[in-house]
Amino acid sequence: MDPNVHISRHPLLLHKLALLRDQGTDPNSFRALVREISRLLFYEATQDLKLAPLTVRTPLAECTAHQISGTIGLIPILRAGLGMAEALLDMVPNACVWHLGLYRDHDTCQPVIYYNKLPSPAHIDLAIVVDPMLATGGSATEAISILKRVGVSRIKFMALIAAPEGVARLQGVHPDVPIHLAALDSHLDARNYIVPGLGDAGDRQFGTM
Ligand code: PRP
Ligand code: URA
Repeated sequence: MDPNVHISRHPLLLHKLALLRDQGTDPNSFRALVREISRLLFYEATQDLKLAPLTVRTPLAECTAHQISGTIGLIPILRAGLGMAEALLDMVPNACVWHLGLYRDHDTCQPVIYYNKLPSPAHIDLAIVVDPMLATGGSATEAISILKRVGVSRIKFMALIAAPEGVARLQGVHPDVPIHLAALDSHLDARNYIVPGLGDAGDRQFGTM
C-alpha cells in the first residue's frame, strides 16, 4: 500500500464503522456516527498540523504553550460531505468551509459540478477535502483538481470508506495528496457502488432512500 494512504485501525473507529454499515441504522443514528467517525479520523489525519509557540498565564505561572498556525480549509463535497465537515468544524472552529457541489451522474458515473463556493483569491495553508465515499474516485479527483486550479497546494483527502479503484484513480492523478480512510473495501459493483460499503451515503444521512 502506498505510504500516502492511511487506513485507521483504531478500535473505537472500527466499532462505530460496523454500526454505520448496518442497514438497520436509521438516518439520525447514521448522522451521529458520521460525525463521531469523522472526528476520530480527523484526529489521526492532523498529527502533522503546524504549531506556533504561545505564552499563556495559568493561575500559577506563565508557560509556553502551542496554537495551530496557518489557515485550515474544510472542503465538503456535497451533499454527503456536509456531515463530516460539520463535525470537523467543532474541532477547528477557526477553519473556513468551502462548499463544492458535485454529484455522480447515474449513467456515466462522471462527476457533475453544480455548486462552487470557493472564494477568490483563495488563501488557505491546508485544505482537507471530505466525502464519506471514494468509489470510482471521479468526484474526489475533480474536487482536488478544482482546488489546485485556484492555487491551493497543500491538500489532504478524508473519506470513511473507499474502493481500491477510487484510491488508484486519486493516487494516479494526485499522488501528492495523502488519503485518510476508515476502511478500504473489496471492490465496486456493476453500478459502481462500494462492496460491502454502506449503500448511498447521502441517502442514508438525509433519509432520501
Ligand atoms: C457520492 C459520494 C461521493 C461520490 C463518490 O455522492 O458522496 O461524492 O458519490 O463516487 P465516485 O468516487 O464514483 O465519484 P453522490 O454522487 O451520490 O451525490 P450526493 O452526495 O448528492 O448523494
Ligand atoms: N456513492 C455512495 O454514496 N456510495 C457508494 O457506494 C458509491 C458512491
